[in-house]
Amino acid sequence: MNQASNVGRTTMGREAFVQSVQKALGDGRLIVVSNREPCVHEKTSHGIRVTRPASGMVTGIEPIMRAAGGVWVAHGSGSADRLVVDAHDRVGVPEDNPAFVLRRVWLSRAEESKYYYGLANRSIWPLCHIAYARPEFSHDDWSTYKAVNRRFAEAVLDECRDKPAVVFVQDYHLALLPRMLREARPDLTIAQFWHIPWPNREAFRIFPWGEELLDGLLGNDLLGFHIQYHCMNFLSTIDRAIEARVDYERFRVFRGGRPTTIRAFPISVDFDQIGADSSLPLVDAHMSEFVSILGTTAELQKIFIGADRLDYTKGIPERFRAFDMLLRKHSELRGRVVLLQLGVPSRTHLTSYRDLNDELDDIVDDINWRHQSEDWQPIRFLREHHGYHAVLAAYRLALVALVTSLHDGMNLVAKEFVSTRTDGDGVLLLSEYTGASRELSGAVLVNPFDVEGMADSMYEALSLSEEERRERMSRMREQVGRNDSFRWGRKIFEEIARLKREPVTVA
Ligand code: G6P
Repeated sequence: MNQASNVGRTTMGREAFVQSVQKALGDGRLIVVSNREPCVHEKTSHGIRVTRPASGMVTGIEPIMRAAGGVWVAHGSGSADRLVVDAHDRVGVPEDNPAFVLRRVWLSRAEESKYYYGLANRSIWPLCHIAYARPEFSHDDWSTYKAVNRRFAEAVLDECRDKPAVVFVQDYHLALLPRMLREARPDLTIAQFWHIPWPNREAFRIFPWGEELLDGLLGNDLLGFHIQYHCMNFLSTIDRAIEARVDYERFRVFRGGRPTTIRAFPISVDFDQIGADSSLPLVDAHMSEFVSILGTTAELQKIFIGADRLDYTKGIPERFRAFDMLLRKHSELRGRVVLLQLGVPSRTHLTSYRDLNDELDDIVDDINWRHQSEDWQPIRFLREHHGYHAVLAAYRLALVALVTSLHDGMNLVAKEFVSTRTDGDGVLLLSEYTGASRELSGAVLVNPFDVEGMADSMYEALSLSEEERRERMSRMREQVGRNDSFRWGRKIFEEIARLKREPVTVA
């Protein structure tokens, strides 16, 4: 697709999305609410630095908020967040030319520890991912989770100011919020998107407060998941765990009369914007920086890259072990391949995340020690927050991008990688346990639990002819280009508009 038609498609996609939002809103306002904020203000020795957090949720929602405008309510977690807000805890984003308003909610250390680290990430996250990390449950965390959901409800209701609104809630941190809003304001239209998998009903059974959590979610008019399989799991969980009528024909649940519609909306990225940003001089500069860190170039060595939040669901130890196996099985590759791993530290107050970091250090040490030569080190592990442009640069350097999650709702790294490859080259090695694997038919699919199989797939990826690489990449670029973040947003808001037109049905 040439540059001009690219621009045409982007504008059309964005406009169609904005129109769908306007239709859904009528004379109301749009309020998005999530735990993680789209930009974080941090104090540094050179003043205040603004960063965009490594979050699939932020990657997916931010472009649509920039296009639609409105208010985004989120936890103010940065050390300089309080310094930049007005008297109502609001700040425009981006600050130089605001497209939407960020309203910050403040949490105490204890609240953050019990609601975010505790209930959200020690209980719900492992419960939903089933990646062999045992969920932990604490009554204290649960009561703080409820209290914090109440705090978010107050902020949202304050932003609604007794006017009509569509409230679009994000993720598993705020499962109780929809019911709270529904009780306070029955006239609101409430939708939620669950960015992580929904487990099967057997796995969900162990959650001690299942009925309350499900009741909270059924305060929504619309509840979205990435894939149909998660919708099915949700409906069968409801069927078993709570008094409600499930309409499998129309994917609706009736509880107390008002229906909640369940739908799959595979989230995506701003394909054209990422493509355009990838050719910025700033990205070229980051590429040169990586090249000098690696001490190699794409011509001299074949570069594998990984870019992840350091989370045990991402299958990073498995990926390193497979790379090790690749080098052991094909000794001719020594000195000819390198793996650049960008890792953003995440949730490090939790033991399971600290253990993962220690494990990664040990594995990298061991692999490098066994294989390295004087002028070659197989794995470069850069553990820090990498800015948006640096990540794009890494994607562009790669011959092979590695996405090896043990379980992932969607995984937007896969779609970002594809969006950057305007050169039409590059291979995506993708876990079959990601939502993205259902869409990206040009990827080399792997089972990350099968380390030897994954090593073989790495070899296969290296051995693909340029022609085949290009054919696969062109298929994937077509898929992501067609299903970009604006289409995702449009589908959701068209469904909201449709639900608003429907008379409220009582079962
Ligand atoms: C996943 C979740 C998001 C979350 C992100 C980063 O993508 O679905 O809600 O923001 O991980 O995690 P964090 O805990 O840093 O927000």
